Amino acid sequence: MNDIRRIMVLGAGDLGRRVFHELAQGDRGRHVRLLGRDPETTLRAANSAGFCALQRGHGAQVSHALTDLTDTDRTAQEIAAFRPDVLFLAVSYQSWWQISTLPEDAFKRLYAANFGPWLPMHLVPVLHAMRAVRAAGSDATVVNAAFPDAVHPVLAAAGLAPHIGIGNVANNVPALRTAAARQLGLDVADIDVRLVAHHYVSHRLSRHGDSGPARMGLSVHYAGEDVTAKADVPELLRWLPADYRRTGGLAGQTMTAASALSVLEPLVDGRDAHVHAPGPDGRVGGYPVAIESGRFRLLLPDGMTEDEAVAINLSGQRADGITEIRPDGTVVFEPAAMGVLTDALGYACERMPLGEAEDRAREIAERYAHFRDRSCERAEALR
Ligand SMILES: NC(=O)c1ccc[n+]([C@@H]2O[C@H](COP(=O)([O-])OP(=O)(O)OC[C@H]3O[C@@H](n4cnc5c(N)ncnc54)[C@H](OP(=O)(O)O)[C@@H]3O)[C@@H](O)[C@H]2O)c1
Repeated sequence: MNDIRRIMVLGAGDLGRRVFHELAQGDRGRHVRLLGRDPETTLRAANSAGFCALQRGHGAQVSHALTDLTDTDRTAQEIAAFRPDVLFLAVSYQSWWQISTLPEDAFKRLYAANFGPWLPMHLVPVLHAMRAVRAAGSDATVVNAAFPDAVHPVLAAAGLAPHIGIGNVANNVPALRTAAARQLGLDVADIDVRLVAHHYVSHRLSRHGDSGPARMGLSVHYAGEDVTAKADVPELLRWLPADYRRTGGLAGQTMTAASALSVLEPLVDGRDAHVHAPGPDGRVGGYPVAIESGRFRLLLPDGMTEDEAVAINLSGQRADGITEIRPDGTVVFEPAAMGVLTDALGYACERMPLGEAEDRAREIAERYAHFRDRSCERAEALR
C-alpha cells in the first residue's frame, strides 16, 4: 500500500459533499479530492471540508478539480492525474429527493411509480463516469451511490459495473440491530444482522415496517451465533417506522453518508470489514458483504444460497418497477409502474437497450421539467 491513500469523490451534490467532508476529517495519510461540475459549489465544499479538518486538528490533504461527465476525456484526465485508490461516485441527473420538492399532489402522483422507471437518470451519469475510469486506465476501487441495485447489473453487461454500491440495504441495518438487541435483551454491540433486500424493500421497510409484495431475507446473530429463531422478526420490522424512525428527506442523507463511509473507510484504510451493500460485483439488489483484502464476498444468512439471495432481490426489483435486466443490459420495465410516468409525464418506455439510455434520460429530464413547471404554476394559482 502507498503511504498516502488517495480518494476521489465524483459529484459535489448533497451526498458527495457530505461524504467528502467526512473523509476529509482523516489523518495525514489521506488525500481527498472533490471532482465537481459547478466551480463555486466545488471550491466552497472543498474549502469548508479542509478548514473543518484543520479546526479539529486533522491533517488530511484536501483538494478539488472540475469536470463535466459528458466530457469523457476531461474526466479521464482528472482521474489519471489524481490516481485514486478509491473513487466514490455520487452523481445523478435527478436524485430521488427531487420529486419531493414538488407540490404535494404532484409528488404523490410520481411517487406511485416507485424508483425503477427513473433508472436512466442514475444509470447514464454512472455510465459516463465508468467510461472515463476505463479511459484513464484507473485501477481504483469504484464505489457508487446512484441506484446500484439496478445500475450495476445493467452496466455489468457492458463490463462497466462499479465494484460495489452503498446505502439502500445498509440504511436500515443499524435500526434492525438496535431493535433486535432490545427484543432479545442483549447489548447492541454483540448483535449483527444479515439482510438481503432490494432498494424497494429498504425504502419500504423504513416507511411501512414490512417488505410488501417483495421478499427479503434476514438473520439475527448474537456473538456470532444465529439467534433468528429466538426473535420475532415481523415485530422487529414494525418497529422501524415506529420507535426507530429516522430523519427523512435530504437531512436524512446523513444515514446514507454513514452507510457510504462504512464501505469507503475500510477500502481506504486497507481494513477487512463486514458491511451491507447493493450491487457488489455487478449483482442485482443488496446483500451482507465481507470486505476482505479489498475484495467482496457475500456473507449470506446461514443456509441461504446465492441463487436464493438473487431470487429475493429479483422480487424486489419487480416491485420497484423493473421486470427484467437481460444479459445484454436491456431493461424491461413493469407496465403498471411505467404507466404512472406515462399518465403524469407522457413518458413511455417498455424496453430500454443500454444504447438508448442517454436519449431516455434526456427525454425524462425534458418531460419532468415541463411537469414540474406546470405543477408549480397550478399550485401558485390555487394560493
Ligand atoms: N444508495 C442510497 O442509499 C442513496 C441515498 C441517497 C441518494 N442516493 C443517490 O445518490 C446520488 C446522488 O444523490 P444526491 O442527493 O447527492 O444528488 P444531488 O444533490 O442532485 O447531486 C447529484 C450531483 O450530480 C452532479 N452531476 C449531474 N450531472 C453531471 C455532469 N454531467 N457532470 C458532473 N456532475 C454532474 C450534479 O452536479 P451539479 O451540482 O453541477 O448539478 C450534482 O452535484 C443519486 O443517484 C441519489 O439517488 C443513493
